[in-house]
Amino acid sequence: MHLFLLLILQATAALGQIDPAHCRYALGMEDRRIKDDDITASSQWYETTGPQYARLNREEGDGAWCPEGQLEPSDSQYLQVDLGRLTFLTVVGTQGRYARNSGNEFARAYRLNYSRDGLLWKSWKNRLGNAVMEGNKNAYTSVINDLHPPIITRYVRLIPVTKLSTTVCMRVELYGCPWEDGLISYSAPEGQLMMPPGYPIASLNDSTYDGVHERRRLFGGMGQLTDGVIGQDDFLVTRQYHVWPGYDYLGWRNDSLGTQGYVEMEFVFDRQRNFTSLKVHSNNMFSRGVKIFSSVSCWFKPRLIAGWEAESVAFKTVLDDRNPSARYVTVPLNRRTAKSIRCRFYFADVWMMFSEISFQSEDTVLPTQITLEVTSTPVTEEGTMATTPKTAVNASTSDPPDDGNTPILIGCLVTIILLLVIIIFLILWCQYVCKVLEKAPRRILDEEVTVRLSSCSDTIILQTPPVPPRSGHGPTVPANTDPHYERVFLLDPQYQNPAVLRNKLPELSQSAEASACGGGYAEPDVTQCTPHQCFHSNAPHYAETDIVRLQGVTGSNMYAVPALTVDSLTRKDISAAEFPRQQLIFREKLGEGQFGEVHLCEAEGLPEFLGEGSPLPDRDGRSVLVAVKQLRADATSQARNDFLKEIKIMSRLNDPNIIRLLCVCVSSDPLCMVTEYMENGDLNMFLSQREIESTLTHANNIPSVSLSDLLHMSVQISSGMKYLASLNFVHRDLATRNCLLDRRLTIKIADFGMSRNLYSSDYYRIQGRAVLPIRWMAWESILLGKFTTASDVWAFGVTLWEIFTLCKEQPYSLLSDEQVIENTGEFFRNQGRQIFLYAPPLCPPSLFELMMRCWSRDIPDRPTFEGLYQALRPHVNQ
Ligand SMILES: *[C@@H]1O[C@H](CO)[C@@H](O)[C@H](O)[C@H]1NC(C)=O
Ligand SMILES: *[C@@H]1O[C@H](CO)[C@@H](O)[C@H](O)[C@H]1NC(C)=O
Ligand SMILES: *[C@@H]1O[C@H](CO)[C@@H](O)[C@H](O)[C@H]1NC(C)=O
Ligand SMILES: *[C@@H]1O[C@H](CO)[C@@H](O)[C@H](O)[C@H]1NC(C)=O
Ligand SMILES: *[C@@H]1O[C@H](CO)[C@@H](O)[C@H](O)[C@H]1NC(C)=O
Repeated sequence: MHLFLLLILQATAALGQIDPAHCRYALGMEDRRIKDDDITASSQWYETTGPQYARLNREEGDGAWCPEGQLEPSDSQYLQVDLGRLTFLTVVGTQGRYARNSGNEFARAYRLNYSRDGLLWKSWKNRLGNAVMEGNKNAYTSVINDLHPPIITRYVRLIPVTKLSTTVCMRVELYGCPWEDGLISYSAPEGQLMMPPGYPIASLNDSTYDGVHERRRLFGGMGQLTDGVIGQDDFLVTRQYHVWPGYDYLGWRNDSLGTQGYVEMEFVFDRQRNFTSLKVHSNNMFSRGVKIFSSVSCWFKPRLIAGWEAESVAFKTVLDDRNPSARYVTVPLNRRTAKSIRCRFYFADVWMMFSEISFQSEDTVLPTQITLEVTSTPVTEEGTMATTPKTAVNASTSDPPDDGNTPILIGCLVTIILLLVIIIFLILWCQYVCKVLEKAPRRILDEEVTVRLSSCSDTIILQTPPVPPRSGHGPTVPANTDPHYERVFLLDPQYQNPAVLRNKLPELSQSAEASACGGGYAEPDVTQCTPHQCFHSNAPHYAETDIVRLQGVTGSNMYAVPALTVDSLTRKDISAAEFPRQQLIFREKLGEGQFGEVHLCEAEGLPEFLGEGSPLPDRDGRSVLVAVKQLRADATSQARNDFLKEIKIMSRLNDPNIIRLLCVCVSSDPLCMVTEYMENGDLNMFLSQREIESTLTHANNIPSVSLSDLLHMSVQISSGMKYLASLNFVHRDLATRNCLLDRRLTIKIADFGMSRNLYSSDYYRIQGRAVLPIRWMAWESILLGKFTTASDVWAFGVTLWEIFTLCKEQPYSLLSDEQVIENTGEFFRNQGRQIFLYAPPLCPPSLFELMMRCWSRDIPDRPTFEGLYQALRPHVNQ
């Protein structure tokens, strides 16, 4: 069964685009699919350290490739690999010369050069412009580097880099998948700056383009349109960390390109192909003047040296003024034959923005690809097939089998179809049974169906993961390529259920904790549900989508309350007092979202209203500045409920280090909640703009903080969390971005879905709406959907780490989201392969020990917030 579904996935995958997260298969250095002849080098020291010995984890010859003599800092020695075809390269792994303990040479750093044709070499740089990658620290451990951006190439050169004269030796593996598009370059007008008043400047250039810039056009290279990263609905929000707004898109303004009203792009391919379609991922944020193109015309050139054929293919799109989502627009190309294509995309509005372009040609959707795996793999290998993509990839890249296999092929296809029918039947049946079992009538969302199904019958759902919208070229079934790349996508809905997860991580079933599928862990403060379900019932639908430019406001909607199953809340549930709306005087807008807005207001007479003894926020004469979160009158009832729920939760909280709900206006629409205004914004922003106090910062007037400030902040957060824990409240999203600072630098913990837009790269978006702060989450929250005070302790550890790195870096910044999730699996297994956050240089060792305890695998080993508070407090008074 595994085998067949794998094949189906492969077939559909061939239609889609590259997904860098899935395209990470070993390309054959270690297993010798890359032949000795294809590995060359600028030099070699001995016969026995030739380039053919540069294979990861192999101990042949003298154990590695070593260039001749000592490597000097000015040297440019290289190891070159010919991959035999255009490849989408995503990861590079290196290792030193171990040679059964007789070797001790390795490369501490290296650069990459690459070439698509073997003639023109380009040097690789990461998204921030750095070319040098960190290499090995000893002769045996392999080090993996993710390429951001990935490279599309056939030839790769690894160039060891050194600061001192030294001997280096290397073993390597390359990871990626075949580049089926066949595109070798595109040219386009340079992207432009968008400078609308009131918004950040969006720089819509192609910042990773590897060709030449000439007369405001890009020539002869590829860049962001082929990096596998699609832009978000809001083009200002980026998927990368520390880049500028608009990063993911290449965009143009209609009047900047003369009066022609179109953008002309030219695409060159590796060989003549018969094109079926072209897919353009385009932004459609019409509220900001961006739309998909209104029409496109393409011309074809069958050979490089030939004229453009007169007959073009034209295609009109259906413009969409309702849905602002970015989308793929598919343009049929009518199986025209070409070696290069020229397309004109006509503007539909002032702006046009693309994030990705891909081409489908007949030879990319090879029906034979399906057969390959069946015929070239003996049946006895079925098990391994499904779990080892290496085999699958190997098979799919090998030569096609001869025609004698056609009957087998047809037989297999028929079997696949029969199996599909059976699976569909089983799914329908299961759905029916599930419905009957739980009589509660309920609107079933797609995602919920998956979750529910899996609790009904693990075996079936496991085999039918929803085909991801952008599947890569490899099987999406998690599998075991290599110890570093054991792929487990735990946030796929199929894993959301612990019972299903057990099948993926067999060790889990031995763990007593993971014994239940529905509610086994009955600790008092546990809200037991999958992240999905939780986010569905508690998630802030009214705010999550697009509040931008927000500061110092709050709305704590994610505090999970164990007994909060109420669906409609009434006035009597809300203990905060009703404030006369007319006494709120608008000062300025702080943020805006789909269902609401946040305003900075003066609240006249608030001190009197709240009465004596009520500690007040910053005063400004008689009036007080407050943040007012307001729900639009036309918000959905779901959003309304969430809003009221949030009010209810917040009105119960009263602690100096928790944001306070001062009053509400809920007797009439629009609903409002009034909270303290936190002038200094969030802690993340605050710290990232500061340096640690030193004579240098004093001399140059650089904003700074002292170590004791940092400790004081940590104590305040632990104090606020201690309070939440005493109420059995689980915060679920503790991080510096959710801690606010007032004028006197008092920290108050808040948590609002709205911040998710500013910090979207901190969250991992799973299929539907749910977003998870995976870099802050304990392993059991990610793997089991279990959120407890102990998982808040974990997040507190990460928050401390952020504080002591002055928020200059995202946690695990070198790992992709998928790797973070894989690392979570390692935390669970606890075999010493998990990667911990490093000790920040500023951080006293005793404090780092405390952080490490927060990240203990077993909950009893983690400190409590009371313990943390007691441990941190003495530091401050020193
Ligand atoms: C790497 O590429 C750069 C051009 O981008 C070139 O100047 C350099 O010589 C190349 N180095 C090697 C070893 O190929
Ligand atoms: C793209 O724009 C950014 C931000 O304005 C700038 O830093 C970068 O150098 C530009 N890159 C290219 C290749 O023009
Ligand atoms: C493209 O299609 C034509 C016929 O429509 C066929 O003769 C040719 O071999 C095909 N070329 C490729 C590269 O598939
Ligand atoms: C650009 O778009 C605007 C708005 O659609 C339109 O008024 C203007 O004529 C366009 N300019 C050109 C040169 O097409
Ligand atoms: C991989 O493919 C090569 C031919 O390209 C073949 O010789 C080898 O046996 C294959 N390996 C596996 C594990 O299927």
